[in-house]
Amino acid sequence: MARKFLFRIFRFDSEKAENPYFQDYYYEEEKDKVVLEALMDIRNEQDATLAFRYSCREAVCGSCGLVINGEFELACRKRLNSLKTEIIVIEPLPNLPVLKDLVVDMEPFWQALEMIKPYVMAEEEAVEEEKEKSLWLSSPGYRIEEKEMEAIEPFTNCILCGCCYSACPVVARDERYLGPIALAKLYRYIRDPRDQRRFRDWEKIGTSAGLWGCDTVFRCNEVCPRQVNPAHGLLALRRRYLWEKIKQIFRKEK
Ligand code: FES
Repeated sequence: MARKFLFRIFRFDSEKAENPYFQDYYYEEEKDKVVLEALMDIRNEQDATLAFRYSCREAVCGSCGLVINGEFELACRKRLNSLKTEIIVIEPLPNLPVLKDLVVDMEPFWQALEMIKPYVMAEEEAVEEEKEKSLWLSSPGYRIEEKEMEAIEPFTNCILCGCCYSACPVVARDERYLGPIALAKLYRYIRDPRDQRRFRDWEKIGTSAGLWGCDTVFRCNEVCPRQVNPAHGLLALRRRYLWEKIKQIFRKEK
């Protein structure tokens, strides 16, 4: 039997001088659908001005993160039949400026990621040498042991949806804070045996805007749609940081 819903959707246009408001749309679900499909139907049949973001529709690209009835969700994964109520309140991700309706400006999130240089930093010379020998892909020097992979794998599952950044209470009060996933990603790279970055390359994150800013309330772990547990990465990074600092002290004392 068709189920009837009331969608109460956040509306705002940053290019117009208007206050944000909620607009109601009635929607009848004929077959089992996800929230993203319902939003597409509403846009196609009722209001072409409604803005929201999506791409893969398979919980892979991370572009459809929203707050649905107060919960952080991927709209392409959240099924209407999993909702216990017929009133569905949809809001954009908090902690990020709203551009239009449900579309937020992800720039602060991308900037935080850029800060930590989110890629494996191989030692240039070594890579070039191996390439010359045509052994680059087959060299044992560039393989990861299964055990090593297990340590970094959770953080490679992140789809960069920004839910953890949006839900973070520290980001909400301090815009300098890098946020959970940037720091967990940094741990992912320094823990990677192929990464050759030195401590001095990332030591600067040992501030209240970086490593020491986290309140450890684990909100990021709760809201992550991929169970990445960014706070675990962040805490591991703290331990690594302290270890490197201790090593630095002993090196100086010699
Ligand atoms: S549309 Fe790609 S994750 Fe939802």
